[in-house]
Amino acid sequence: MSALENSVRLVPVRVDVENLKKSFGDKVVLAGVSFSVKPGEIYAIMGPSGSGKSVLLRHIIGLLAPDSGRVLIEGADASDPETHRRFVTAIVFQDGALFNSMSVYENLALYPREHRIADRKTIDARIRDVLALLSLQGAEKLMPSELSGGMKKRVAVARALMMQPQLLLYDEPTSELDPELGAATAELIAAVSAATGLTSIVVTHDRELARGIAGRVALLKNGRIAYEGTPAGLESSPEAEVQAFLHPTIDISNPRFRRNAQAENE
Ligand SMILES: Nc1ncnc2c1ncn2[C@@H]1O[C@H](COP(=O)(O)OP(=O)(O)OP(=O)(O)O)[C@@H](O)[C@H]1O
Ligand SMILES: [Mg+2]
Repeated sequence: MSALENSVRLVPVRVDVENLKKSFGDKVVLAGVSFSVKPGEIYAIMGPSGSGKSVLLRHIIGLLAPDSGRVLIEGADASDPETHRRFVTAIVFQDGALFNSMSVYENLALYPREHRIADRKTIDARIRDVLALLSLQGAEKLMPSELSGGMKKRVAVARALMMQPQLLLYDEPTSELDPELGAATAELIAAVSAATGLTSIVVTHDRELARGIAGRVALLKNGRIAYEGTPAGLESSPEAEVQAFLHPTIDISNPRFRRNAQAENE
């Protein structure tokens, strides 16, 4: 993995989210969210569907501006485009968001070519490095339709690494993967973090994943951080909000479940 050091800048950044508030119309999504991610840390964000995890990530990459509060990357405001010229943040989207009409090579070469940040030889060398890191040697010529789900995720990570990011965000990296591929993805995120030293923020529903890789985890609920601490501490927290997230109960008096309940009694 030492070849990678030529390809990835080893300067991780610190992220501070300070009293972040965001509403859409009447709907309050973030009601004052604060946390800090240390340089090089893997930080997980969990929370029920619709709790604002993706909205939070969009503030960090500067696609959304806060109503109040702020997000700082190394002390610089994330809503200022200049900040993203100084500190590169890459995001791995849930579905990979690969360009289907382009080969793996073309998907990976896109960012450096568009930003004119390297010559052909340097780009080719970097592509070889990231493909090797992700066990995708020789996949350059394949089209996205020829890749398995697990390979697609890895190509999506490879493409993010081509940006030489100091901050890497993952939105639901294990959704739609079977448990085995989920475990492989956890290993992948940990390996990328170890090889590059970059700061990682992982949004996930997957408790196994959070337990496996994250130093700290935050639980986002009702617009606030309901828990922050180690993944093990989350599992053993007596807080009602945490318990409700970990052990959602099904109300069988709800008409949706009545037919099943009756069937069981028969
Ligand atoms: N651009 C927008 N305009 C209006 N409402 C939005 C917008 N973006 C997000 N929302 C709303 O904000 C809330 C939080 O959405 P978000 O996508 O962050 O949830 P999430 O925690 O990522 O959920 P999931 O786990 O299902 O991905 C939702 O109610 C959503 O409808
Ligand atoms: Mg989301």
